[in-house]
This record gives sequence, structure tokens and C-alpha cells, in this order.
Amino acid sequence: MEFLYLKEILLIAIFIVVLIFIKRQRYLAQQRELIYGKRLKEAQSQIQEYISDLDNLIVMLVGIHEFGMTATGIVSKEELTQLVVDSACKLMRTDKGSLMLLSHETNELTIAASQGLSPEVVSTTRIKLGESISGKVAQTGRAIFVEDIETDMRFMRANNVHYPSKSFISVPLRVKNRIIGVLNINAQEPNARFEERDVRLLTILADQAAITLENIELYSNLQNFYLEMVQTLARAIDAKDSYTHEHADRARKYARLIGMKLNLPEVMIRHIEYAALMHDIGKIGIDENILHKPGKLTEEEREIIKKHPAIGNRIIAPVAFLSPVAPMVLYHQEWYNGQGYPEGLAGEEIPLGARIVAVIDAYDAITSDRPYRKALPKEVAVQELKKGADKQFDPKVVNAFLKVLEEEKQEKTSKDSSII
Ligand SMILES: [Fe+2]
Repeated sequence: MEFLYLKEILLIAIFIVVLIFIKRQRYLAQQRELIYGKRLKEAQSQIQEYISDLDNLIVMLVGIHEFGMTATGIVSKEELTQLVVDSACKLMRTDKGSLMLLSHETNELTIAASQGLSPEVVSTTRIKLGESISGKVAQTGRAIFVEDIETDMRFMRANNVHYPSKSFISVPLRVKNRIIGVLNINAQEPNARFEERDVRLLTILADQAAITLENIELYSNLQNFYLEMVQTLARAIDAKDSYTHEHADRARKYARLIGMKLNLPEVMIRHIEYAALMHDIGKIGIDENILHKPGKLTEEEREIIKKHPAIGNRIIAPVAFLSPVAPMVLYHQEWYNGQGYPEGLAGEEIPLGARIVAVIDAYDAITSDRPYRKALPKEVAVQELKKGADKQFDPKVVNAFLKVLEEEKQEKTSKDSSII
């Protein structure tokens, strides 16, 4: 009897143990599901974060690449510095930034380009090496990153009254071991914060910018060297044809002003300047007796003189840096209506540089002493240009030139009145 109970009790106990085991397994399975589910969610949101970080990074790298591509076509320091600031602001999602260049003569940083700063701040800001944040960055060559200026013990908020944001990055522009300037970027919203990653990206951009700036400097030195060479040649032509003394220098000045008036790119203005200086270089190959003949030229002599654009083209075309100038020299005697020489090109077929040189050349010829007459007044030349618009000259170029002359006249009048 006792034995029988014991058996039942044992069975019940086994049943209970099995039941507990099953329940525990279920519980553990539920817990596992919960944990895995939670982890899965966490992992999913982490992956999402990584993906959006990667997306941002790609956008930024594309931005830096775009900057590099655009920067290679730029030849002026002003254009490049502005592009650097604009690209940096775009990358950092802000509209406040500046690029400062260091003068090694005064050891001062001045603002070369900016976004979101008043013209007064831009023109008056001067920061000594070692002073303020930009000055420290320029002195040490190390970037400064302030996540929140109000909690950053290194800086006083009052020193940065021009910068309404709390977070900013200042990185050096370095060429080899030389610091040439500083790029400053401020966060857009008052509460927006930059991150360490932004510093690294901005450093990449600043390094690229510094190298491009240095190249522009070298290129500009080389261009100035060329320009001096071309000027020497142009003066040699002037000396040969004494009636056009200083003709080339004047032509160059007007070429730049017309180019600017027509909003042409700097590189093109340079080429037109060269063309204005050198357009008559082919006269070197023309007999001086014909060039200086005081009386009327014979048909044959006129044909000889007409060869000077082609001779000029042959002199210039083989020089690599002058190759864009050669067509401007070759076609500077073409007429807008197609009645010029050497090929009778018309309208837009004539290179713009050649159309500009044609207008300047005609104006200068009328207002200078010639072998057969004295110089005529500027008003006569202006009337001739107006008459020649659409026939000999491109009317757009004539218009731009007339504006340049008008501004020159006004400037002279105000100068004269200030002397009085
Ligand atoms: Fe000419």
C-alpha cells in the first residue's frame, strides 16, 4: 500500500518536473525571441544610421570632388577663394564661412572671400599671427574645432561677436610646410553642432584648395613673365611704326575693360589682352617704306600690308601659351558684315577677341597721329564706331566700348574737379 502511494507520488513529481521543464523552455524561448527582436531592431536602426552616415559621407566626397573639378578650370585667386568658401559652406550645410590669406610681409590674416559676413567686417578684419582663433590656426598649423563655444573653456564668446553660431571649425591652408591661410566655417543654426568628421572633411578640402591656390600663384607669375615678354615685343613693333607709339599699351587697357564689361572669363580677358598687344606683330614682316609711306598706297602696297595678320598668326601660333591668341590676331581685320580680310568671315564666325581688337584698333587709329594726318578728337572716333556698328564692327562690342569710354570720361571729370 505504502509502496503504491510512493509510486504515484513519484509519477506526480515526474509530471510536475516535466511540466516545469516545458514551461521553462517556453519562457526561455519567449525571452530569446524578445531579446533577439530587440537586438534585431537595435541592429536595424544601427544599420540605418550607418547607411545615412555613408550617404552623407558620399555626398560630401562628391562635393569635394566637384570642387576639385571646378577648381582646375579657375585661374584667378579671387574666383578660387570664393569657390572654396562656397564649397565648404555647402559641404557643411551652412551659409557662414570665410577664407583668410596670410600676408608674409605683415604677418596678418585678411578675408579674401566669405559668405554671410558684412562687407564692413570683410574689409576691416585684420588678425595678427597667433591672435584669435584664425591667428592661432595659422601660427600652429593645427585645426581648431569648437563644438560649443559657450562651454569651451579655450575661448571667450565675446571674442567672436561676428559669428552668431556656437559651433565652428577653423582649418589651416598649407602648402608643404608653409601656412598660406585659414578656412573658417560656422554652423548655420544657433544650436547646430559640427562633428569630428566635419573637421577631417574640411581639412581635405583645405589641402586641395591650398595646392590649387599655390598653382594659381605660380601660373600667374608665369603669365606675368609672358606678359612682360609680349609687351617687350609689342613695344618693338611700336618702335618700328613710330606713329603708333604706346598704341599697344592703350589697346591692352581697353581690351581688359571691354572684356570685363562683357562679363568674359578672366582667362579669355588675358588672351584678348595679349591679342590687343600683339595684333600688329605681323608688321615686323612688312617693308618699312610701305608702312611709313606718307601718301596714298598703291593697290599692290595695300595687298602687302594686308598680309600682316597672317604673318602675325605664323609668329604666334607655334607658341603654346599664345595658341588661343593666334586666331584673334589672324582675324582682327575681318569685318562684321563679311567684307574684311583675310578670309571674309562674318558675324560670330569671327572670334570675339578679334572683334574686340578690331574696335579698339579703329578707335586708336582715329585718335592717333598718322603719316597722312593729325590725330582726330575722341568724339569723331566715337561717331565712326557708331557708324561702323553692324558693318565693320560687332554692335555688342561697340556698345560695351562706348560704355567704357563714358565711364573713363566721368572718372576723368571727377578727378579734375577734385584737383580744382
Ligand atoms: Fe592691324
